Amino acid sequence: MLSLTPAQIVSELDRFIIGQQDAKRSVAVALRNRYRRSMLTQEQRDEITPKNIIMSGPTGVGKTEIARRISKIIGAPFVKVEATKFTEVGYVGRDVDSMVRELVEASIRLVRKEKTEQMRQKLDRAVQNRLVDILLPLRKQKEGEDAVARRNAVINDLESGIIEEHVIEIEVQDKPVGMNTEIPGQPEMNMGDLLGGLMPKRTKKRKVPVKEARKLLEQEELDRLLDNDAVISDALERAEQDGIIFIDEIDKIAMTSSGSNGPAVSREGVQRDILPLVEGCTVNTKYGPVKTDYILFIAAGAFHLAKITDLIPELQGRFPLRVELSPLSAEDLRNILAGTDNALIKQYTQLLGVDNINLTFTDDALDLLARYAFEENEVHENIGARRLVSVMEKLLDEVSFTAGDPDAPTCITVDTDYVQSHLGLMGKDHNLSQYIL
Ligand SMILES: Nc1ncnc2c1ncn2[C@@H]1O[C@H](COP(=O)(O)OP(=O)(O)OP(=O)(O)O)[C@@H](O)[C@H]1O
Ligand SMILES: [Mg+2]
Repeated sequence: MLSLTPAQIVSELDRFIIGQQDAKRSVAVALRNRYRRSMLTQEQRDEITPKNIIMSGPTGVGKTEIARRISKIIGAPFVKVEATKFTEVGYVGRDVDSMVRELVEASIRLVRKEKTEQMRQKLDRAVQNRLVDILLPLRKQKEGEDAVARRNAVINDLESGIIEEHVIEIEVQDKPVGMNTEIPGQPEMNMGDLLGGLMPKRTKKRKVPVKEARKLLEQEELDRLLDNDAVISDALERAEQDGIIFIDEIDKIAMTSSGSNGPAVSREGVQRDILPLVEGCTVNTKYGPVKTDYILFIAAGAFHLAKITDLIPELQGRFPLRVELSPLSAEDLRNILAGTDNALIKQYTQLLGVDNINLTFTDDALDLLARYAFEENEVHENIGARRLVSVMEKLLDEVSFTAGDPDAPTCITVDTDYVQSHLGLMGKDHNLSQYIL
């Protein structure tokens, strides 16, 4: 499990998310506490339950982004669900347990991946042997070549990558297509799995290039080498002990003061359904029962209509840690535009680079873009960092359309003139200067 310190987690998040230090800190501490707990004795561990977090803050300032990023850096089972999913019209018997089932699926994928990496060498060797067996008879016999030399020559061809496109015929298992029958409130069953176990294994022949064959054979070898029961029992344990469920859009199931009409009742119903999960209960999954007592819940919502206090008190009580994300300043926007590892201008530069366009931005153009986005947020609706996307689209609309044409320019420098003319700021009385970075 993840052994990064809180400071390391925060600095990892810093690469992609600007500001929001309070939220990053709380999340980092909560994650580290999972690790700390895992180092204790069973007895001590049983007494320590996670301290759930609720994040609030305006739209487009990084709440969901924090969830996306932590899911990549922690080696723990993680799922993100939208609370609104459970209020959808026509959804029978709001199945909140499904989030725990999804967590188990995530945990199985994680454990499978870890175990696969552990036996990478063994796996590669097994796949190579099978490929060599297929390729050997296809290779012309050279004079004076003995069996060993012949085999080595094939291995050489495989390793050097010169026959990756070569089409060969392989025999792979023909699995029955899974039919998933999902009944709300019941652990799902996979008819394919059930029947597949009963029916004799069938194989079918396929003609595929070597590189494709390698993937198919790897999957098969993996099924053979992996002990599925061990994967499942590990995965259940990991889900129970290290699992994290991120409930997004939680404000959408809060009651507003507008009265108790239909949807409001259904929203409160969802909160009541979630309660036992957060409190600690046992959910049945097709792999076995999962206790939710030690799962960490992180909830997030904009809370611009409803307040946290509009959630039913019992649920509020189960999220003792509150962190607020702040609105983005012009400087934040400037950093989101150009300062993160996946910064917007890097993305646009890469995309247009495919069409041989060399796109560069001057510093003052970036300042101007950020200030413009900030002002648009002030004057119109504040949509946070998403504003930058619409600004960039407008800015690069023409280039994006013409790039790839034979006579399109290949070097484009975005300076303040370019920004002004493409965003239609020319001659307008724009008091952008009042926003000092
Ligand atoms: N602080 C930030 N740093 C870097 N990028 C950000 C930041 N805030 C938002 N973004 C970018 O803006 C987009 C929207 O952010 P995100 O999905 O996190 O919004 P949110 O806070 O969850 O809003 P909502 O309440 O509407 O769901 C994402 O693509 C994200 O990359
Ligand atoms: Mg969001």
